[in-house]
Parts: sequence; C-alpha cells; structure tokens
Amino acid sequence: DGLLAISRLGELVPDWAERETWACGPAGLLDAAEEHWTEHGSRERLHTERFRPGVVVAGEGGEVTFSTTGRTVAADGATPLLDIGEEAGVLMPSGCRMGICFGCVTPLKAGAV
Ligand code: FES
Repeated sequence: DGLLAISRLGELVPDWAERETWACGPAGLLDAAEEHWTEHGSRERLHTERFRPGVVVAGEGGEVTFSTTGRTVAADGATPLLDIGEEAGVLMPSGCRMGICFGCVTPLKAGAV
C-alpha cells in the first residue's frame, strides 16, 4: 500500500543488490531506485523503463532532411517534426498526434532530436 520507500528495500528483499531488477513506474520512484542502486554500486543490475523521457528541453532547431524525399527544411526547436514534415509536403506516418501511439516514430539516420 502507498509509495514504496526505497530505504526499506533491504527489509523487504534482503538480497536485492545481488538480483537483476526490472522497474517500471512513476519518474519519482525510478529516480529514487536509480540513485539507490548507484549508491550501492549495483547500478548495472537495475533496468528501468520509463513511460516518458526525462525532462525534455527544446533545442534551438536546425536543418532536417527527410530521407524518403530528400527534402531539407529549417526547423525551430519547438515545432514537432511531424508538423515540419507535413508543412514541407512530406507524407509522414502518424496516428494520434498526441504522443501516445508512436505511429509517427521513424528512424533517426543522423544527428539528434
Ligand atoms: S502520431 Fe505521434 S505519437 Fe501518435
């Protein structure tokens, strides 16, 4: 019941540091788990899955080349690449347009997003 206090982990699972651990949950729990495993030198045994990436800070933008068309356009750091591509006339796969379905995820061939 309630939140798991990472400090109580040793009481609940005495050999936790010797086990491979997979954790999925809210960011606060995973941050605490990563800190705990790191402090005890067992970070390599903790595998986490986050629902969302950490804090995303918009970059300054740059040039984007869509490989299917070879079209290169300027992109600011705030407009989604899906919108940038469509504005440039590039047919992009998409679904929910809300960051839920991942229907718009395509491979990044070079650079950073
Ligand atoms: S269209 Fe991008 S996440 Fe659904």
